[in-house]
Formats: sequence, structure tokens, C-alpha cells
Amino acid sequence: ILVELRAVALNYRDPMRANGLLPPEAVEGSPLSRGLGCDGAGIVSAVGPGVTAYKTGDRVSGLMAAALGSHALTHAGAVGPMPGTMSYIEAATFPVAFLTVHHTLADQARPLPGETLLVHGGAGAVGLAALQCARHLGLRVIATAGTETKRDLLRTLGVEHVLDSRSLDFAPRVRELTDGKGVDIVVNSLSGEAIAQSLDLLRPNGRFIELGKRDIFLNNPLLLRPFHRSLTFLGFNLDSIVFDRARGPRLVLDTAARVAAGQYRPLPHTVCPAARVDEAFRLLQHSRHVGKVVVAFDPLDEPVPVEPALGVPALDGEGTYLVTGGLGGFGAATAEWLADRGARHLALVGRRGAEAPEAAAVLQRLAARGVTATAYAADVTDETAVREVIAAVDATGHPLRGVVHCAMQLDDAPLADLTDERFAAVFAPKAAGAHILDRLTTGRALDLFLLHSSVTAATGNLAQAPYVAANAHLEALARARRNAGRTATALAWGPIADTGYVARSNLAATMTGLGFEPVTSTEAFAAADHILAAGTDVAGIGRYRWGRARRLLPSLATPRYAALVPAGAADADESREELLRSLAAMSTEDAVRAITEALARHLAGVLHIDPSELDPDRNLEDFGVDSLMGAEFILQAREYFGIHIPPGELMGGGRTLTHFARLIHDRLGLHSSQGAPPPGP
Ligand SMILES: NC(=O)c1ccc[n+]([C@@H]2O[C@H](COP(=O)([O-])OP(=O)(O)OC[C@H]3O[C@@H](n4cnc5c(N)ncnc54)[C@H](OP(=O)(O)O)[C@@H]3O)[C@@H](O)[C@H]2O)c1
Repeated sequence: ILVELRAVALNYRDPMRANGLLPPEAVEGSPLSRGLGCDGAGIVSAVGPGVTAYKTGDRVSGLMAAALGSHALTHAGAVGPMPGTMSYIEAATFPVAFLTVHHTLADQARPLPGETLLVHGGAGAVGLAALQCARHLGLRVIATAGTETKRDLLRTLGVEHVLDSRSLDFAPRVRELTDGKGVDIVVNSLSGEAIAQSLDLLRPNGRFIELGKRDIFLNNPLLLRPFHRSLTFLGFNLDSIVFDRARGPRLVLDTAARVAAGQYRPLPHTVCPAARVDEAFRLLQHSRHVGKVVVAFDPLDEPVPVEPALGVPALDGEGTYLVTGGLGGFGAATAEWLADRGARHLALVGRRGAEAPEAAAVLQRLAARGVTATAYAADVTDETAVREVIAAVDATGHPLRGVVHCAMQLDDAPLADLTDERFAAVFAPKAAGAHILDRLTTGRALDLFLLHSSVTAATGNLAQAPYVAANAHLEALARARRNAGRTATALAWGPIADTGYVARSNLAATMTGLGFEPVTSTEAFAAADHILAAGTDVAGIGRYRWGRARRLLPSLATPRYAALVPAGAADADESREELLRSLAAMSTEDAVRAITEALARHLAGVLHIDPSELDPDRNLEDFGVDSLMGAEFILQAREYFGIHIPPGELMGGGRTLTHFARLIHDRLGLHSSQGAPPPGP
């Protein structure tokens, strides 16, 4: 069924996913992880053949992949009818939390009235749902939570025994509260040692419901001795149950029936209108909410700023695309990209034609994929020669449909050293060549007129005055053509890592050191697809560290570039570089201490506390760092040190600031290169 969304509740995995912090195993093969949001409520706007349970106009709530949008497509069995009086916002608070709890606690653990339940993380959405379910089943509840505010909430909700989940003291306290007998069921979301401690608390015939994913994804082992007491360990994956044709619909309908009967009630929630979805993500990320954060799509709210999904228009398989400089380097990669986009006839032009060193390999690669590529030997500054190439193309019966101008000639030298001839030799192939191509294709129906420019057109460059001028000229030509209603795009590339001049001259490390980090041609063309689809006239594609670049190119410090070089970027970059430089000169112990201090500053920022309150030798978990705060901390550390720390490494025993500082120290490779310049990220 197709559902027009009216409310979508977020889950912790959404901000994790948006920040690229979910491990691949959490996403691969999971229909619910196809996009953001999976708790939805809305109106059925279409039903597929064979769907009898719902019709257009029905109000439903349930699980739907990529629910955070105007519409979502889902299985009829994954949603349930909404009670008549319930709002969409309330209905969106149910699916993930209550399906999880109903399946694991009510269906799988099969509690008997009067049994004792220990709920870890009782103030989270699933925890709150478990409390409702437990009350309904007549269970005695002990709950844990990580902060005093959350524990207060649980007491207010009538939970008799509330303990701290951040220390392992909960185990002896539970024994005390149960006269040494322990509990019958544990609903767990804690990780590491807390799992073993909680298993030990189970009475004979006890059931352990594992809702945390961390230890499962890390494939951590579990000791089996406790199971001698006839214990049951229940793992859980919502995808596997909800999309199981036998179990899924029954679970969804059972849960919906409890909702309809008022046994399960909406969870506490905070609402953000869809136009301010960013606030919803921030709220969740900083755990400043109780229960659920719901994004509301109310037609009466302010409109949602929508960025249209741009389809990349295919090129004309019957037409010919002419690529100057297309017989080698980045020009040849460009020709292959045109083939990726549907071009089947290419005219590749260079002064050496098929004699160019890479030409044979380029032609062979294209032929192998069914593309007719013809090499033409012509100088693009020679109008007669270019006219002849176009005439030859016309004679093939595959009319010229596009031009990509990649030809370039370099001759780096200070401007004062250049003669007119040397200047023109660099300037003309780009600038004069582009004008010739522009003139000779006037009146033709082209769907592409692409000019390869360079980031240097914006930043300037030492010893490259004619090259910079020529690229600036190409960008002006693109704008002039657009103004005249003709197609044109100039793409100002940063250095390319895998092919072309920079790669051939082994300049990647030097460029990175200067703040211009090479990108692969795959990354470059992915960005180009987007820009071309958007119909932009001039755009840049590259990865830059402006703080470094500014030291080489003073022009970047002038007000003219204020928009290009974000305020503070230079300082942040410089302070990072300064840190890395000074670290390299320190002894290992001093460097680890300095990194620890930098990490403490970041973590303190995340936790809104003073860095001095952070004991570097305590586990991060002890500071109340939950997975989302952890995610933010990791992102900051990643940004600052240019080092990847997998989120899974954050929690558990021995995960102290000092531990991470040692890890970063090792990964920076400082111990092996004392005094050497810092490596690039
Ligand atoms: N590679 C990078 O990192 C990078 C970065 C930014 C921008 N770009 C832009 O990307 C384009 C391609 O760069 P690249 O690195 O691939 O350069 P490249 O390897 O040096 O190739 C330049 C090509 O242009 C051809 N050419 C030069 N003068 C010509 C002329 N007068 N008429 C016809 N063909 C001519 C050359 O072939 P013949 O010698 O046989 O004529 C050669 O195939 C350039 O426009 C450059 O500004 C590249």
C-alpha cells in the first residue's frame, strides 16, 4: 500500500544513519533501513492488487521504510488500522516500540502474572512501552535509567524500584529488592559486563530479552553456564519478524488490537513540524526528549523546503559527443563517463590523435563496452582542423549532440618570465579552443557543452597565470552561453587522484599538503552528474582544506573569498595542524596527554560540562555518554584528527579518554615519524 504520511516518529538509528555511523550489518539486507524514518502514520493513498484489508482513505500506522517523506510504500501486513479518536502524531509513537515489546515480552517471554521484570533503560521509548506491557500483564517491575531526570520520570510513572543503569551496582540492589531471588525476565539494552551481571540475576526458567544491538554486531561471546538454570536468551530483529508473512501481520494486528482496547497508550512525545525536521534530529541526537520525537506533516503547517531528486538525463545513444583532450588522462576518464551516461559514439580529439600514449588503451576500453570511439588528430586552436573533425562526425550519420572541452597545455613559470608565445601556448588551447567549438556548433541542437575548468580560476595559482586566466575565460564563456539561452556548464575541478596531470606527475601528496586534496574521478563524476542535472552554469568540485590553502594563496584571506573560505575554517585547520606538529615533537606520553586533553574538550562540549570534570581514566559510559552523544563525539574527533573511530569501539570496559588518545596517537603514526610533518587525512 502507498501511505500519505501525516506523522513520522524518529528512532535513534535515524540520526546515526544520517551521520553515516550505523555499521553496514545494521543496514544491509534490512528493508526498514532503506531510508530515514520507519514509524509512520497516515492515509492510504493507493493499494496494490490483492490488498483487501485496506482501501484508499483508511487511516493506518505501522512500519514503512523511508517513511520520512510525503509518501511511503509498505506491505499491508506491516500496518494496522488507527483507532478513530487517535491523532496521527500519537499513532506514530507506537510501531517500533510496541511491536518490539509485544513480540518479545508478551509473545516470546510469556510472563506469568506476579513475575518480576527488570527493564534496563526504562525511560527510553522501548522501556516505556515495556512498562505499559508489564503493567497490563500484572508483572512486578524494577527499572534502571542513566540519569537522575530519567529516574525521576520513572518514579513519577509509578515504577516502584528505580536504579542507576550506569553502574554495575544495580545487580546487588536487585538481589536486595528480591530477597536474593533475582528476577524472571530481563529486558536489556545495556552492553558489555552489564549483560553477564543481568543474566546472573535470572531465576530458574528466566528469560533474557536482548534489545541492544552493540554486542550482537560485535559478535561478542556469552558464557553458557547460567543457562543450566533453564534460561532462555531471546535475540530480536524487527525486520525478520514484521516481514515474515506468517508472523508479521499477526503481530501487527495483535498489537493494534491492544492499542484499540486502550491497553497500550501513546508514548510521551515531542513534535516538530516537517519544515523543521533538522530540529527533530538534533533533539534526538542530544537526548533532550522523553519518549518519541515525532515529525508532523500537517497540511496547515509551513511548507517543507524540498530539494527535488534529480534524475540524471541520459545522453543520446544515436548522437556523437566530441571530447577534446579525450585520448588520455582526465579527458579520457570524461569520455568513459559519457559512455556511462549513454553516449555510444565519441569523437576524441588531440593533436597526436591515435598516436597519443594512452590512446590505444582508451579506444580499446570503450570498444569493449560497445562504444564507437574515433580518434581525431587535430589542434583545437586550428579552426579549419576542428571544422574538418565536425564534418567527419556529420558524415558518420550520428550528428554532433555534445562537446566536452578538456584540452590543456601547461607551462608553469612566473608571469614575468613568460613571453607572449609561451603565454599563448597555454592560454589558447583552452580559451581560443573553446571559442572555436562555440562558434562551429552555433545553431546545432546540443544537449551538452561542458568546459573543464579548474579551482585555480577562483583561487589563482603561483606560476600558472595563463592557465588561471584561460579557465576564468571558460567560466565566462559558460555564463555567456547560458545568458544567451544556450546550454553550457563549466566545472572547476580540484586535483584528480587517479588519472591525468596530477596523478601522472605524482603530485597528490604535495597537493594534499597545500590544502588541495585530490578526489577520485568516480567521486568527481558523481558530483558532476548532480550539477549537470541541476542546470548549473559554473560549479566547483573538489576537497579543500582552506586553512592550508590560505597559507599558499594569500588571495584566499581577502574579503572577496569570505564566502568560499568559511569563517573559522582557517583557524580550526591551523590549530589542528599546530597540534599535530607539536605532537610529533613530543614524547609518546606527552603526546597522549595532549590528545587526551583535546578529546576532553570535545567531549565536554558534547556533554555541556567543564573538561576538568572528565576523569580521563574512567569509561566513557560512566559520564552518561549514550550512543548519540557518542556519535557526536566521534564525528568531532574524526573531523579534528582526521581519524576514523568505529562507533562500536566507544562503549564498554577500558574505553577511557586515555584509551582513545592512545588509539589516535597510534593511528596518526606519530611515534614512527618524530619531527616529520603531519600526515594528511
Ligand atoms: N588532472 C587534474 O587533476 C585536473 C584538475 C583540474 C582541472 N583539470 C582539467 O581537466 C582537463 C584534463 O586534464 P588532464 O590532467 O587530463 O590533462 P592532460 O593529461 O595533460 O591531458 C591534456 C590533453 O589535452 C590534449 N591537448 C592539449 N593541447 C591540445 C590542443 N591544442 N588541441 C587538442 N588537444 C590538445 C592533449 O593531447 P595532445 O597532447 O595529443 O594534444 C591531452 O590529451 C584540463 O582541462 C584540466 O584543466 C584537470
